[in-house]
Amino acid sequence: MLPRALGRARQGLAPAGRKVFIGNQQPATKFVAPLTQFQTRKFHVLEPRGEDATPLDVKYWTGKPAVAYNKFQIDLSKYDMKKILSAYDEQGNLVPDLNLKQTQDLSQHMDQVFNDVGAVHCTNTGMTTTAEFNAIVKVLMPSHMKYEGGANMRAPIEGNVYDTGAPREADLQYHHEMAYVNTSCKWVAFGAMEVTHNPMKGATYISENNGATDMLMDDPLGQKLIDKGVCYIRKLPDRKFFQDNNRDTSIVYNYWQTSTGSEDMEEAAEIMRSKGLQVEWEDSPIFGRYMVTKYYIDTFEYDPFSKRNTLYASVADDYAWFDSWPGLKDLPHWERPLKLTFGDGEVMTREDKQKWVDCYDKNGIPIIWEKGDIAIICNYRTAHGRPTYDLLPGEKRELGVILGETFERQGGIEGKY
Ligand SMILES: [Fe+2]
Repeated sequence: MLPRALGRARQGLAPAGRKVFIGNQQPATKFVAPLTQFQTRKFHVLEPRGEDATPLDVKYWTGKPAVAYNKFQIDLSKYDMKKILSAYDEQGNLVPDLNLKQTQDLSQHMDQVFNDVGAVHCTNTGMTTTAEFNAIVKVLMPSHMKYEGGANMRAPIEGNVYDTGAPREADLQYHHEMAYVNTSCKWVAFGAMEVTHNPMKGATYISENNGATDMLMDDPLGQKLIDKGVCYIRKLPDRKFFQDNNRDTSIVYNYWQTSTGSEDMEEAAEIMRSKGLQVEWEDSPIFGRYMVTKYYIDTFEYDPFSKRNTLYASVADDYAWFDSWPGLKDLPHWERPLKLTFGDGEVMTREDKQKWVDCYDKNGIPIIWEKGDIAIICNYRTAHGRPTYDLLPGEKRELGVILGETFERQGGIEGKY
């Protein structure tokens, strides 16, 4: 069994973005480490070529929503949204008028649905701007969080509304937001700024996490994930190498310089270590001075709503995340930027990962967007993801994202599995 202290080692690492980073014009560092400083032992892969890395079969749902839509949809045409959204805070931002009975009724309605189900899907909101998106979310969640993930993270659309930061060609597997750092967020809000003509195209999927957790616990894999925890392995390429050699950056997810904010190898490694990560360097002909980090964490997180430990890690932190990601999908799995193992280093087989995915898929629900829709989802009680989608000429799909207030991860609590 993985020692609990180890399983709960926490990091404050600036997370690797969900977005391919395009190299910028940062000044090159004058420090170049001699190659002898690189450690040659590769601690991040046990049998690099021996694993079955066939892309996972991700279905997202069974064809029938795991939770009936009427349990978590609220039709806002029944409320006078013009009246509700008629106040401004001291900074001049549009906010709901909490003194109005209508606002209080809507707040109570949203609160009840959110507490019962863990998701609220508001339809017919009339929302067309990020200011209105923010204000409607504030009816339920007065406190917002500013995303402070790192320099190459999601670009703000406006204020604290961000884009989803992933290419549409990629299947985004079910995950809990910010499950790869010690500070996570309690909820996530999505606002449909632009939608496709086909209702299922560009849908976001949520998975009911209690059901997914129960299903995984019915398999020995569940207990194994409790006992061993997981280890996130990250591989961070060298920005200087890519700039100096004019390399194609489509195979880059996140440079170590961007992740740490330092151009200096020693300093960058120290920043990572100070956050609980183990760090090693490799000299790679493809990625230059290649930083490899390891981070141990619980698979589960105590969910204060359900009062039990539920799944929080997912295969989104494995190389499987890049199965359909342009550029990165063409890398062999041992060169992809992420890898998930059990917390004692045991390789997670494709069969293990597929089982895990199946549990989420069997509890999946598509959120079918109409323009102006807003969904606020609990990050404990739901995982979220979406399949790839295509766009016809002139078609657009834009989702704004607001990340909710943060909490310090504590992992699973003894006796609450
Ligand atoms: Fe996400």
